[in-house]
Amino acid sequence: MISESLKELLKDDVFAAAPAEEPQRQHYFIEQLKKVFGGSDRRYTAAVVTFGCQMNARDSEKLEGILSEIGFATGADEQDADFVAFNTCTVRENANEHLYGRLGRLKSAKTKNRDMIISVCGCMMQEADEIEKLRSRYSFVDIIFGTHNLYTFPELLFRLLRKRSGSVDAFDDNGIRMLTSSSDDAVRLDRLMRYSGTASGQKDIEKLLRRPVVSVWEGSDRIVEKLPSKRKYPFKQGINIMFGCNNFCSYCIVPYVRGREKSRLPEEIFDEIRAAASEGVKEIMLLGQNVNSYSGGINFAQLLRQIDSLCDETGIERIRFMTSHPKDLSDELIEVMASSKHVCRQFHLPLQSGSDRILKLMNRHYDKERFLERAAALKAAMPDISISTDIIVGFPGETERDFLETLDVLGRVRFDSAFTFIYSRREGTPAAALEDPTEESVIKERFERLLGFQNGIVEENLNALAGKKCGVLFEEISEYDPGLITGKTEQGITVHVPADPGIIGQIRDVVLEENHKFYFTGSLVGKESNATRIGG
Ligand code: 5AD
Ligand code: SF4
Repeated sequence: MISESLKELLKDDVFAAAPAEEPQRQHYFIEQLKKVFGGSDRRYTAAVVTFGCQMNARDSEKLEGILSEIGFATGADEQDADFVAFNTCTVRENANEHLYGRLGRLKSAKTKNRDMIISVCGCMMQEADEIEKLRSRYSFVDIIFGTHNLYTFPELLFRLLRKRSGSVDAFDDNGIRMLTSSSDDAVRLDRLMRYSGTASGQKDIEKLLRRPVVSVWEGSDRIVEKLPSKRKYPFKQGINIMFGCNNFCSYCIVPYVRGREKSRLPEEIFDEIRAAASEGVKEIMLLGQNVNSYSGGINFAQLLRQIDSLCDETGIERIRFMTSHPKDLSDELIEVMASSKHVCRQFHLPLQSGSDRILKLMNRHYDKERFLERAAALKAAMPDISISTDIIVGFPGETERDFLETLDVLGRVRFDSAFTFIYSRREGTPAAALEDPTEESVIKERFERLLGFQNGIVEENLNALAGKKCGVLFEEISEYDPGLITGKTEQGITVHVPADPGIIGQIRDVVLEENHKFYFTGSLVGKESNATRIGG
């Protein structure tokens, strides 16, 4: 890939001329990379593989945006792409295993094509042990970076090209605490150059130049946006409003890998929303690990009220947000939602457990009664609201009695959907030190029981909607039947409707006809939507 003309671009002064300010610095590297990847007859291809939550999905859109800008055709198959990025998750052990499986399968592709660039980023890379494992057992990975410096991706890719062409640049850490970096390679190369005349010295140099570019920060209070991003759907966009989490639930690794909470300023958020609207976005999803503790000078309820008015002015129709912590769900927020024009009647309210004893051990700062009261307050203010939740089964020491308390909450709140997880021990979290005498088979049986119980509730809730009319934002042609177009109601229910693909990106009224357990089929009514709320 590194041709002679490309080496010209990689001359030392090209690196030295980079501005220090962000994001200008990254725009500078994007311009350099464009000359490399955009200036060839061949179109380079890229695959971005995302694991985990909505925050990661949004980060991947940023990676894809940068890659497209540079000149890559994104959306390629990872086995034969020129560039592959894995954006990792580490919330549960199986997420980690998933990455190693995918990397293992990519090894032979990389052996065949030594120019292939493989990059790994995201939450898992904020764990020193995992970086070590990658560097020792998956040495064919070329670029490693973390959650705090995703925006430096253009620079890291540029550094890699320079390294492959023979120059290693020292990292100027600007006072940033590094978890791991490959900055030593610059010094090492200097040292090795003294022996470059010998065959073994030359071999050592070549080996060093094949080592990965690594830059993982321990933490950061910087927020750098205003870099390109590429939406998966042209009419839907995630908007980060805050990053990190200060809650330290005892089982959760997120605060360690995503760092402390930091909120964006309202004006910056508004600017991004205005820009999205001008590009035809119909639905925005405000993103944060814990949006209820947003603190950008105003609180989350106030921010949401202002965004609701902004959507009125700009033509954005729907606002969603995720995720909320039940302890911070205020009456003010419920009031803002209920009186808003655009905030979807959908709330993700993670319960985790219904047992007061377990909730205390989890460090959740609410009890069962308080949770039930908050869920009831949401339903009282908005009877058509859909509430979803997260449940962990098998927290260390959870007894049958504790588990029955969880089932009791499920039976009373009657969540419209529940994401259910078996507890996964995460090294470094307080819960990892707790003993658990419970047999795995007992935990599995409880998990299945919970699933069966909750599935019954979901089906009954959906049955109650049959025959109702509601607005649906149409997203894509159905995976299963090209004659059907798939969309989502305000409540997040998936609906398949026989229609022309021309309605993709529009909100149209639909009568919900048949409940297929986890989705509906229905039919279009009228030309435009006048009933985005579920009606009679
Ligand atoms: N084990 C199982 N589930 C977990 N979650 C977070 N950490 C763990 C863990 N260690 C779940 C919680 C959270 C969701 C995103 O993932 O339910 O709400
Ligand atoms: Fe993890 Fe709790 Fe923070 Fe959610 S609120 S990210 S579960 S620590």
